[in-house]
Amino acid sequence: MAQACRLGLLLALLLPVVGASLPSTVVRLNKAMLSYVSEMGKAPLQRALQVTVPHFLDRSGVVLQPTRVQILNVQVLRLQLKFVDDFGVRLFAAANFTIKVFRVPEPLELVLPVVLLADARVDQGSIGTPVVSISSCFSLFNNAVVLDGGHSAAPALLARVQKHIKAVLRNKMCLSVSNLVQGLNVHLGTLIACGSESQIRYFMVNKPTITKDYISLDINAVLFLLGKPIVLPVNATRFTLPEHVGTNGAMATVGLSQDLFDSALLLLQKAGSLNMDITGELKSDDNLLTTSVLGQIIPEVARQFPEPMPVVLKVRLGGTPVATLHPNNATLQLQPLVEVLASASNSAFHSLFSLDVAVNLSLQLSVSKVKLQGTTSVLGEVKLTVASSNVGFIDTDQIQALVGNVFEKPLLDHLNALLGMGVALPNVVNLHYVTPEVFVHQGYVVISSGLFYLN
Ligand SMILES: *[C@@H]1O[C@H](CO)[C@@H](O)[C@H](O)[C@H]1NC(C)=O
Ligand SMILES: *[C@@H]1O[C@H](CO)[C@@H](O)[C@H](O)[C@H]1NC(C)=O
Ligand SMILES: *[C@@H]1O[C@H](CO)[C@@H](O)[C@H](O)[C@H]1NC(C)=O
Ligand SMILES: *[C@@H]1O[C@H](CO)[C@@H](O)[C@H](O)[C@H]1NC(C)=O
Repeated sequence: MAQACRLGLLLALLLPVVGASLPSTVVRLNKAMLSYVSEMGKAPLQRALQVTVPHFLDRSGVVLQPTRVQILNVQVLRLQLKFVDDFGVRLFAAANFTIKVFRVPEPLELVLPVVLLADARVDQGSIGTPVVSISSCFSLFNNAVVLDGGHSAAPALLARVQKHIKAVLRNKMCLSVSNLVQGLNVHLGTLIACGSESQIRYFMVNKPTITKDYISLDINAVLFLLGKPIVLPVNATRFTLPEHVGTNGAMATVGLSQDLFDSALLLLQKAGSLNMDITGELKSDDNLLTTSVLGQIIPEVARQFPEPMPVVLKVRLGGTPVATLHPNNATLQLQPLVEVLASASNSAFHSLFSLDVAVNLSLQLSVSKVKLQGTTSVLGEVKLTVASSNVGFIDTDQIQALVGNVFEKPLLDHLNALLGMGVALPNVVNLHYVTPEVFVHQGYVVISSGLFYLN
């Protein structure tokens, strides 16, 4: 993981070179996300506010009497976060501090109600990750309530102790909040660096858009092939996510553009992952991939191979598959070249003929943890045309019936295994998408999802 982070920093240096500056993805974090963060944030805030208080030096007496003061407990009663237009997030927290003053002869316990207000600006950091910074922070104190046993405390002393504690807290609480935010920034930094080991990395391309309802991040992806970034065709059309898409009240609304799909498919094609070999076995009874089966429709094959020999289909994708995002469904068009080879007696392979194949697939999308996954099924029929032949004339209809059948299931198995591995969506360490819903629109896909932070 540390390694992945270091790698991420290197990648960050590469990004300005390889990344197009227009977003391919929009991540919109809605009010529901802020509510979740306020719930999640109570415990860390409570811990952060448990600061040390220096001894209280009572200057009222003849001798300077240092008195130990300790925060026994901090209870954050309310934590509220609100978006502030064009700026960031406003924090409101109400907490009760239980404080013990080790006064002689008997200690004093008090409860000090505190309200903390802070404004946090959200910006784009230099390496393309979101950066939060506290721009203003202040606290309000109510009068402390003395707990049982403290009746004997002189009001004047109580006032002096409170003054001491408030002065300390006024300073330290804002420092604590700043430190929490620094920790958050490290975490947000994993958007680019340590989000996953996958072949895709995301970075922000401009400042976030902040309204009273959401914060929206324009994000671009860099894809890596064998550790090297691949240069993607630059699209001059800026991807924007329409306002009211996805499920109302979802924590996150993620828009994935057509470009992102094109890029992911380009990566798969360049990596050769879409290529495959379908190998016939002589032993199996229902195997259609033998020279004797082909020989029944191609006389030249029968002549060259009097004994049945296994046949191999080498499926190669020269062109990138095309994903089309319709108003309610997604399809994938593949046009592989299939070379049909027969194994000869000396176990070398002889090319018999090759076929141009066209197949349309319906693409179902789903999200698991942080990955977008797909499954496909064939739409209509697999269309074949003869591209070249070393065995004379081939009847297209007959070969269509034979090879189309043999080809379909292994192709689907291969694609579904590949698409099932999925592509990482924008994420940070330990954050998962939960109860996601996927909506396909014309030219883009929307994911509405809850978020879950694994502690
Ligand atoms: C917080 O402190 C105030 C003042 O002592 C008290 O009225 C209130 O009940 C306390 N709240 C909780 C939840 O302890
Ligand atoms: C550019 O993006 C638009 C909108 O997402 C899409 O319709 C178009 O096909 C893309 N063009 C290229 C060359 O990828
Ligand atoms: C996908 O949607 C388009 C446009 O709405 C429609 O023409 C097409 O028939 C649909 N295809 C499938 C497989 O549902
Ligand atoms: C695939 O779909 C496209 C667009 O709908 C169509 O033009 C083409 O004929 C289809 N191809 C096959 C093999 O079904």
